[in-house]
Amino acid sequence: MESYCAPRGTQDILPQDQSYWVHVERVVTEVSGRFGFSRIDTPIFEATEVFLRGVGEGTDVVDKEMYTFSDRGGNSLTLRPEFTAGVVRAYLECGMKVWPQPVKLFSMGPAFRFDRPQAGRFRQFHQFNAEIIGIQDPAADYETMSLAWEIFSSLGFRNLSFQLNSTGCPKCKPAYVQKLASHLQTKISLMGGTDQERVERNPLRILDSKEEGIEKVLEGCPVILDHLCDECEAHFNALRRFLHRMNKPYILNPLLVRGLDYYTKTVYEVWAEGIGAQSAVCGGGRYDGLAEVLGGPHVPGVGFAAGIERAIMVMKAQGMEVPDLPRPAVYVAHFGGETKMKGMEICAVLREAGIGAQFSFGERGIKSQLRDAHRSSCAFAVILGEEEVAEKKATVRNMKEGTQKSVPIENLASHIQKELRR
Ligand code: HAM
Repeated sequence: MESYCAPRGTQDILPQDQSYWVHVERVVTEVSGRFGFSRIDTPIFEATEVFLRGVGEGTDVVDKEMYTFSDRGGNSLTLRPEFTAGVVRAYLECGMKVWPQPVKLFSMGPAFRFDRPQAGRFRQFHQFNAEIIGIQDPAADYETMSLAWEIFSSLGFRNLSFQLNSTGCPKCKPAYVQKLASHLQTKISLMGGTDQERVERNPLRILDSKEEGIEKVLEGCPVILDHLCDECEAHFNALRRFLHRMNKPYILNPLLVRGLDYYTKTVYEVWAEGIGAQSAVCGGGRYDGLAEVLGGPHVPGVGFAAGIERAIMVMKAQGMEVPDLPRPAVYVAHFGGETKMKGMEICAVLREAGIGAQFSFGERGIKSQLRDAHRSSCAFAVILGEEEVAEKKATVRNMKEGTQKSVPIENLASHIQKELRR
């Protein structure tokens, strides 16, 4: 019989890893809530057009990485490769334009990209994502950066810094892109095949090319920050003033372009001490044209997303501690028959009193049941012998100390509560 594996680029999140996932989810929820962000959950799949138009044809995400399929009704649907386009679609569809502006939203969940799997890169991965929609104030750009900073700090990340750039707007970007393309044309013979293709299609992407010899290609190339229109420059300078004032370290990186088409003005990444060298843990920016591209009015927005798998990899590599998940404190062992029945009742009473209890299945010797109690890290075992049960008593064993005490069954919950507080 054939056996099956999880699809390439996906992974099972096993019980031993769940404490990290629960912790990240809790920190994201708490910190986002404190910053005034509300949670939104959008569908995992959207009409393909949402991403075609939103993220943009010509980007790697749309051209090479989307999981697109027809449903039985003949509709073209796509598993979300990112959250922003779906969140803005929801903003428009659900009438959030008439809510008090801006609307501050965060999300968490799976996203899908047909990427080449490698360390920290999956085909099904998870993001936490935050957006401020409905305002163009550079203070909103700062607010999202500050939220990302606070989440990563609360998780235990150290040596955080930002990489910062502006990608301009429809007023200043096209002239810059043309200048850049002309420069790149003069260097085309120095480029690899993929980059040669990109000069025509998406010259900006060459700025963050990983191809060999790219330094020579980029030598002396025009830089967007020298070509911003007055509005973009004023926006960028205001954001930089906020970052200075709030002591947030950042590096101006004119090569930071990011892989999604909707960005206008600010783009940024959060860098942290990763596994070894500094690396990006999160990326985002402003997307003032996205709502219009999706058929709505002009609604500015800014936000970021971070990959949870990557964050957890760094947390593990750096030994960051996360709280344990709830476990049963008491193991209920018995000798079968009436003692098993009594054990079931005792489990229910303990659970009712808020004490975690694990019932022993089957009919096994007491030694094997106590081994089980150890493996489950229970602090106490309640052992129900036939004679004791007849006398309405049970033995409470302290698993760590190996000491035992006979306790009236009716006092079990209060006795264990007292012991747990000790
Ligand atoms: P992005 O840079 O494409 O931005 O993705 C954000 C984060 O998702 C990355 O920094 C990385 O941690 C994680 N990520 C991306 N692809 C993978 C993968 N194949 N495997 C594991 N992790 C991955 C966005 O998605 C934008 N929507 C961010 C944004 C929100 N911009 C404005 N608002």
